[in-house]
Parts: sequence; C-alpha cells; structure tokens
Amino acid sequence: MTVWPATRANIRRAARLLKKGGLVAFPTETVYGLGADALNAQAVCRIFTAKKRPAFDPLIVHAVDAQQAFSLCRQVPPQARVLAEHFWPGPLTLVLPKKTTVPDVVTAGLDTVAVRVPAHPVARELLRCFGGPIAAPSANRFGRTSPTTADMVAENLGKAASVILDGGASRVGVESTVLGWDGKSFTLLRPGGTTVEALKTFVRIQGKTRMSKAARRSPGLLKSHYAPQTPLILMPGSYSGFVKMLRRKKKAYTLRAHASAWPRLALLSAGPRKKNRLFAAAVALDCRGRVGRGAARLFQAMHKLDKMNCDFIVAERVASKGLGLAVMDRLKRASAHNTAKAIWRTKRHGIHGHRRKI
Ligand code: TXA
Ligand code: MG
Repeated sequence: MTVWPATRANIRRAARLLKKGGLVAFPTETVYGLGADALNAQAVCRIFTAKKRPAFDPLIVHAVDAQQAFSLCRQVPPQARVLAEHFWPGPLTLVLPKKTTVPDVVTAGLDTVAVRVPAHPVARELLRCFGGPIAAPSANRFGRTSPTTADMVAENLGKAASVILDGGASRVGVESTVLGWDGKSFTLLRPGGTTVEALKTFVRIQGKTRMSKAARRSPGLLKSHYAPQTPLILMPGSYSGFVKMLRRKKKAYTLRAHASAWPRLALLSAGPRKKNRLFAAAVALDCRGRVGRGAARLFQAMHKLDKMNCDFIVAERVASKGLGLAVMDRLKRASAHNTAKAIWRTKRHGIHGHRRKI
C-alpha cells in the first residue's frame, strides 16, 4: 500500500490504475472512499474483499456530474433533478432505479443504484481523468468507523488498498445523506452531510415509519455500524449528572479497596475539552454552537480514543437537528449494544482478568 500526495500527476496515475481494474482510495468532502471502475464487475468485487464487506451491502457510484450520474438510472424523477441542481456537487446520494449497464455486484442485486457527485477537488479531478463512474464505499473495514484522513485509511485497510491519494482531512467528516425514491416521494435512508432541513426546502421527505421499512433495503442502516473497537456508550443525561454518578461510584470503589479496578473511561465531549481525573482520556468535538465543526472531527476523535486502551468511550449527546442528526445517528449506531450499566458489569480485562461485583 502506498500513500500518494494528490498531485495532478498522481491523480492521473491513479486513474490509469482504476482503468486496469485496480483499487484506489481517494478523498471526498465527506470521508475517504475506496474506489473501483463502477462498470467493471471484477474490479468492484475487489472492493468487497478488501473491506470484508458482505455482498448484500450495495455501493455508492460517484459521478463527475449529474448527467453522468443520471445516465446510470432508468428513471429520473423531476424532483431528483431539482436536488441535483441545488446539492451537487456535495454530500447527497440519490437511490434511483438502475439501468442494466450497472453491474449487479455494485447494487448487491437490487434494482436501484445509489449515485452521488462529490465536491472534493481531488475526487472531481480523479473522476474527470478516469472518464467514467467510480464505485466507492467508505474506505474502512465493514462495520468500522469511516476514515477522514489518508492515515486512517492506511490503518484501517492496510495492504488491502494498493494506493491512497492523500488530499488532507475531509471537510464534512460524516458520510453523505442517502435518499431513496419510492415512485412518489423521497425517504431518508441515512442522515448525513446534507441536512434534512435543507433538503425539505426543495422536496418532500417521508417520515420515520417509512424510514424503518426502508432500512431493510439499505444495509448502511444496520445497527452497530460505524463502531470503534472500544465499546462506546452514549452518556445518559447531562455531563454534570454523569460526573456526579461517577464520583459516587468511585467512592464505593475506594471504600472497598478496589480503586485499582476503576475502569479506564474515555470521554468524547461535544463541547470544549473537559479535564477530569475520572476519565483516563478525553477528546472534544468542540462544536461551539456549530455541530458541523464537531461532525468534521467525529470519526477522527473516535479513532483517537480507540487507541488509548480504554475500557469504554463515553460520548456526550448533541441535539438531533441539522448535522446533529447525522452525528447522533453515528453515535447511536456505534453504541448499539451498550448501555452505561455495562461499565459496572465488567472489570478491567487486563488487570483482573475475571469479573468481580462491586
Ligand atoms: O459520503 C459517502 O457517501 C461516502 C463517500 C466515499 O462517498 N460513501 C459511503 O459509502 O458512505 P458506504 O458504502 O459506506 O455507504 C453507502 C450507503 C450504505 O448505507 C448502503 O446501504 C446505501 O448507501 N446504498 C447503496 N446503494 C443502495 C441501494 N441501491 N439501495 C439502498 N441503499 C443503498
Ligand atoms: Mg461505510
């Protein structure tokens, strides 16, 4: 695996590699993608192997412009053209009926194809040099957090990606918003970098009940997606309430001479960095009233905390509006199997190696 700075010459080389059926990881404004020639089924198969991605999870096809994107679709409703006009290039993916030219492996056998026109200059230049659509999921192993830097891709995929174009950190930091089309209106399949509020000023978007039905059709909505290796827990309630509870617990540990069994907790705070000895590590999203600021740091923060050898990551909540909807979606998914109670059920694995009730 080689990391190439995203110079014009290297982008051209990467495009040639794609033409030969190779894989190239490249930056988009949302997260890094792992790309292959979308019309070459064999090349696309390599993405699934590299990511250890199950074959039932369809890929997003990236296009240089709306015309190329829609040329892969059998049917394009006028509303889709309206969205394309306002939000492309950008973090929006539309799922529409597909043409037979799109190989089945790209869409996991579904009759629809997910298309998007990315805004990142490196992605755009790569698409332009390549001269065709590029299928690319996020450049992480299946179920893990998406990478927002070239280093994160390298750590995540190792040798599986032959080349990574390094274009710096992704600006948006969460994946694109995915909209499905049921013949009459759009459904939210995945909240992401384009806010629902902005989309709703142009088209109608179906509510939640439809979304859960649609979830079955969009495996990206599986629970426990986007998970770091360290169990993540959503903070139940406010920071001050949680800290009060931790202090009580810590007292009980000390009284019973189990102080060394105190779990290593990592704090992912929504606001500015908080220092507190109850936590072994802390990273701040530092939203400062703009959740978009925090969204850009979300996956990098999870990735950093994941390496700190902690027992749990405790994440503060953000308001579920604007980009906060996408941030909360990723946090909820990352914590799918864990509640705060889990902290007190398990002891530090490394030190005690057995369970002891406190
Ligand atoms: O921002 C992004 O969208 C990034 C960058 C690289 O473009 N890509 C990305 O791809 O997040 P991926 O594969 O990690 O997520 C694609 C999502 C999944 O939730 C998948 O289930 C959904 O899109 N999807 C793709 N094709 C679909 C289809 N035909 N029907 C329903 N959902 C589909
Ligand atoms: Mg992904």
